[in-house]
Amino acid sequence: MGLEQARANRLTRSTAEGAALMRAAGALIDDPALRGPDDMAADLIGPGLHAAALIKVPLLRHAVPVVIDRLLPGAIWFEVARTRGMDELLLEEVAAGAEQAIVLGAGLDSRPYRLAGELSEVGVYEVDHPTTAAYKRDRVRAVVGEPPANVRYVTVDFDRDDLAAELAAAGFDPGRRTVVVWSGVAPYLAEDAVSATLDWFAGLAPTSALVFDYCWREMVDGELDHLYGARQLRRRVAAQGEPLRSGIPRGRTAEYLAAHGLELVEDIGLEEATARYLTGSDGRPPGRLWEFGGVVHARVPAAPIR
Ligand SMILES: C[S@@+](CC[C@H](N)C(=O)[O-])C[C@H]1O[C@@H](n2cnc3c(N)ncnc32)[C@H](O)[C@@H]1O
Repeated sequence: MGLEQARANRLTRSTAEGAALMRAAGALIDDPALRGPDDMAADLIGPGLHAAALIKVPLLRHAVPVVIDRLLPGAIWFEVARTRGMDELLLEEVAAGAEQAIVLGAGLDSRPYRLAGELSEVGVYEVDHPTTAAYKRDRVRAVVGEPPANVRYVTVDFDRDDLAAELAAAGFDPGRRTVVVWSGVAPYLAEDAVSATLDWFAGLAPTSALVFDYCWREMVDGELDHLYGARQLRRRVAAQGEPLRSGIPRGRTAEYLAAHGLELVEDIGLEEATARYLTGSDGRPPGRLWEFGGVVHARVPAAPIR
């Protein structure tokens, strides 16, 4: 393996750990009305000499949310809202008849295990880069033992491999109603890769759903650095080697999806996310929140959009 490849592999693993660290920090919040639901995140992060592993150290872990809030103001709250929102939408889609679920760019997403009961009748496909997927399997074995029989691992390098072909080889049926969770991935991909993924999704069975988070295009372009947390997020992820690369123009999500033949069910922005997921026991939001993005719930229309 060349040096460049080794660096890329380390990066895919550490971005997955970074997202899990946010969820692990969210699960430590005192107020139960605000606490993040991912109580497996800390366990899924591997032990060792890396920053994310601090969350596993009893005397140090309570300092982690404070440090994160310094480095990435607002990020923990965004992660709490994103995790709660995506859990809710995933389960709603399954209850409404989705027979398959794909966790795309799965990282250390705990849903196939944390929500194993609710997902037991669904074919679950965890799709990720080979390096991250191997790490995830090791961690899942260490934390829950053998994965549930309905969970399959699909390894794909989005830069090289054909997602549809790899999924088909794992038994995925594009003709059956599916729900796709795509958390924390789209903003880091080039526009072409996001478009290709939306086009692939648009070819799945009618009424299939896609849930993903995004940043406003203008924020990604650096025009909104005055917004709370925007400059820190842009700079920090770039310094870690994975800059924000794509976004949806502010207020244009419906048109953006329609260009791929998809319909917008809901674009959950700051106000809605605050009302649903970030209202503390005192009836107030926890502090300042990100307003430069949101969570999209999109659908393959029952009949094609003209
Ligand atoms: C920020 S993490 C998000 C992980 C997870 N969805 C979450 O919310 O915790 C980004 C994920 O995209 C995956 N990824 C990045 N580049 C990739 C590529 N070229 N092919 C496949 N997966 C990739 C990484 O392995 C990682 O799991």
